[in-house]
Amino acid sequence: MASESSDKKDIWSADAYRTTVAPFVAALTSKVVGWLDPQPQDEILDVGCGEGVLTARLAPHVTRIVGVDGSPNMIESFNKTFPDIDARVVDCRYLDKDASLCQASFSKVFSNAALHWILRDEATRANAIKGCYDALKPGGLFVSESGGLGNVAEVHAAIIGSLVHRGIPVDVARNASPWWFPSLEAMKALVEGQGFRWIKGEIELRQTVLTDHQGGGIEGWVRLFGADFLALLPSDDEREAAVKEVVEILEGVGRRQHDGAFTVNYIRLRFVAQKD
Ligand code: BEZ
Repeated sequence: MASESSDKKDIWSADAYRTTVAPFVAALTSKVVGWLDPQPQDEILDVGCGEGVLTARLAPHVTRIVGVDGSPNMIESFNKTFPDIDARVVDCRYLDKDASLCQASFSKVFSNAALHWILRDEATRANAIKGCYDALKPGGLFVSESGGLGNVAEVHAAIIGSLVHRGIPVDVARNASPWWFPSLEAMKALVEGQGFRWIKGEIELRQTVLTDHQGGGIEGWVRLFGADFLALLPSDDEREAAVKEVVEILEGVGRRQHDGAFTVNYIRLRFVAQKD
């Protein structure tokens, strides 16, 4: 799910995300939704809601849900598909900029597959978490699942390798990463640093079979999610060659033996924290 600021190119295509490249993101959520445990009286802020598939699934079970996301493309799609749900373009690093969100009015803050984008920049990390804290009523819960340490490491490394192969210095390639994949301990320290009480957390390896749609698969994944990396290259031809090289490298490590499906090692970091 998307997260970030309006000062960058909006790389998100809601259509590619939902139907072609990553339909599994909204589908593989039973554990985190179980931890969220939506109740009829709940008022939920969904941080990094993307195109709203999961938000809309929660909406009938709660009193109120508000979705926020940094991508205008995602929110435009959200508003078209689910016009009755409040969804807004908000840079989630600065929830405090929308004063109506940070008035301790929500019983739960929820985030799925978004914090690794939102918390990417160290300078704004604490502020993003503080915004979630300020949004909650006393006793309110912050429930999240995102990428943990080592998430999609094989794809991450292959992308950096193909950039270095094309003359990009390794530190520049590394710094272009749009993600922060922390250890459980680092996430706990960050969340506790903004006043939350840590209730529980876990790391899970979830080998995820990619789609085999035209435009999806590992190629579509690298094009959509690796867009910030690929932007370092000077031409479409170079970008195309880099994508093909990443796919070639991953062919050797990502194919399941029994059915040939392409698998990526997603590592999920989930937690529940509480505002006292
Ligand atoms: C994730 O959900 O873990 C993820 C999705 C896209 C790119 C990187 C990580």
